Amino acid sequence: MQVVRGKRLVEFEAAALEALVAQHDRVLIDVGTGDARTAYRIAKSAPERLVIGVDPAWRRMEKVSNRAMSKPAKGGLGNLLLINSAVENTPPPLHGLADEVLVQMPWGRLLHGVVTGETEVCAGLRTIAAAGASLDVTVGTSIWRPPVPRDIQGLPELTREYVDERLSQRFAEHGWRVEDAGVVDDVVRSSWSSRLGSSKDERVFGIRAVAVSPVGGAASGDL
Ligand SMILES: C[S@@+](CC[C@H](N)C(=O)[O-])C[C@H]1O[C@@H](n2cnc3c(N)ncnc32)[C@H](O)[C@@H]1O
Repeated sequence: MQVVRGKRLVEFEAAALEALVAQHDRVLIDVGTGDARTAYRIAKSAPERLVIGVDPAWRRMEKVSNRAMSKPAKGGLGNLLLINSAVENTPPPLHGLADEVLVQMPWGRLLHGVVTGETEVCAGLRTIAAAGASLDVTVGTSIWRPPVPRDIQGLPELTREYVDERLSQRFAEHGWRVEDAGVVDDVVRSSWSSRLGSSKDERVFGIRAVAVSPVGGAASGDL
């Protein structure tokens, strides 16, 4: 498993992760953590939680990684781990670990995967979750307003109806029971949500789900 240490990627043994998990009450995994500022803030405010940020674009985590490695007086934290990985291909030591999974303002493969209920992404999210874990996804809906970016064209818009009629079933096939979906007011602050928040018309759509057994026998990674 490769963790970010400033400008470098360093191998991190499964035993070292186990030891960290044992020292904390809960594990939160922030998938598509970006610059990892949200993961850092959560870790700082809740030292009893082990917070793990996961993103394949690992160089963006450099600054936060440096801060987390510094002395406690300078913002150092012992409960934040930043990992170089895409959700489709997470290292086995992370599997079944998360009590909470966050996906905030995704883009690219992660966005398409959660919006369409695509197998590799949804099963990938389920693979890192413990039974009963929560999943919170937020997406800024302005991406569906003209001019619609090329990458978004053809992507179904997240609405309550779409989630009820189509997406919940796909999520269920991959072991996620959707509990709630709709426009959210209390978005967890992140670099990306702050950027979107500067537009007063931005509406953020949220999906909350719980990790259960897959319904209907879909292929679900290594569940
Ligand atoms: C718009 S940024 C949001 C970053 C952060 N969550 C925030 O709210 O500030 C979307 C992030 O999703 C990540 N991402 C895209 N595809 C991914 C995948 N398959 N697995 C994990 N992360 C992915 C990107 O690398 C990027 O950092």
